[in-house]
Parts: sequence; structure tokens; C-alpha cells
Amino acid sequence: MSAIKPSDRLILALDLPDVAQARALVTTLGDSVSFYKVGMELAYSGDGFAFADELAARGKKIFLDLKLHDIPNTVKRATAQLARRGATFLTIHAFPQTMAAAKEGAAGSGLKLLAVTVLTSYDDDDLTAAGYRFPVRDLVPHRAQQAKALGIDGLVAAASEAAELRRSIGEEMILVTPGIRPAGGQAGDQKRIATPAAAIAAGADYLVVGRPITEAADPRAAAEAIQHEIATARG
Ligand code: C5P
Repeated sequence: MSAIKPSDRLILALDLPDVAQARALVTTLGDSVSFYKVGMELAYSGDGFAFADELAARGKKIFLDLKLHDIPNTVKRATAQLARRGATFLTIHAFPQTMAAAKEGAAGSGLKLLAVTVLTSYDDDDLTAAGYRFPVRDLVPHRAQQAKALGIDGLVAAASEAAELRRSIGEEMILVTPGIRPAGGQAGDQKRIATPAAAIAAGADYLVVGRPITEAADPRAAAEAIQHEIATARG
């Protein structure tokens, strides 16, 4: 993962309700940000997918955070559709059937699959209520190993999980880490936060950042400060 430019390791989360607001932010950020995450809110707004395609056509990298999970035939065919859009990353839930089907759907394309092991909104009680017999701390590494065995490209993981996951999955898989807050920043609704430098030190390859940039008085300066911190942390 060392060949990636430090500035390309920052993924800006376009958590916005419509394309007009997303377009304005992308224009403000200009050439400082090269990688954008389009989640369900923006993708499912009127022309969200068309906007993601437009960004890809303009040379930006796109992370489609759509967290697919359905019967294998549907996941395979949906992944194949998304693979045609020129995106770089797509998230899927880390269920073995879903991961295997997505892998088939992405075959032959440049789309890389990132598995979400356990949603960070889940704690052990939520897992029990959903019928699971494993606590979060067992289920995350279990699913990470399944993802690795199935040839999934990477994982989305909080910085607090990243170091342990990196040790267990090795160097090959991509680790993408949200919940990033520059030192002294507002946590917002994030419970498990880390600074950019700490996340990189824990083994993250890419950092997903939303509000610390989108709500900054000068978003471009905020993005560049985080990119500088990433570059410094990687030495
Ligand atoms: O604004 P903020 O920097 O908290 O945004 C983080 C982004 O990362 C959001 O798009 C959020 O949905 C996403 N994310 C997360 N935690 C996860 C997975 C994704 O915060 N476990």
C-alpha cells in the first residue's frame, strides 16, 4: 500500500442530501481532494449516481458506500451493475454468501470490495437481540478472516480495531478507517475516534472523513491539514 500518494489516502464523505450541495463542496475542494465517498443518502437522491459517474469521469476516485446484502444472485448482479460505473471501492456486509457473490459480480472489473464486519452502531446487546452468540470482539476478527479467505480486497474498520485486524489479516488487505477527528476536533456522534496520525499508525490505508472537513470554515484548508498529517505520519 506504500505506493499510494498521501493525499489520495483521504476519502471525503459526501454525506449530503442532494447533488447541488455535493457539487458545491467538490468545487470548493478543487484539486486538493481526489477520493470521494458516496453513500446511500446522496446515491439515492435524484441524480446521485449520475453525479458519482461524473466525478469518476473527471478523474476522481469513487467509494460507493452502499453496504450490499441480499441473496447471492441479487448481490452478484447488483455488484456487476455497480462495477460498470467506474468506482474504485464498494462496501458489502461481511456475510460469507454476500462476499462470495459480490466477488463474482466484480470479477474482471477494477472495482475493489470492502467488507463491513460488524456495524459500529452494534454492541454486544444488539448482537444478542439480533440472535448472534458472539460478542463484537469475536465476530469482527471472525468475519475479517472469512473476508480474507474469500479474497475480499479490504475491510472498513474503526481505528481502535485496525491495529489488531492488521496483525491478523496481514499487509495485503486494504483497511479503510472512519471516525477520524483531528486533535481537538468535535466528536459529533462518533464514539470511537482517532486522529489521522493515530489511524495511520494503527495500520489504516485510507481515512474516511466527513464533518471535520465539510463543516469547517475553510474545507480546503481542513482537507489539506489532514493530508499533511497523513504524510507526516507515514514518514
Ligand atoms: O462526519 P464523519 O467524519 O463522522 O463521517 C464518517 C463517515 O464514515 C460517514 O459517512 C459514516 O457513515 C462513515 N462510517 C462511520 N463508521 C463506520 C462506517 C462508516 O462513521 N463504521
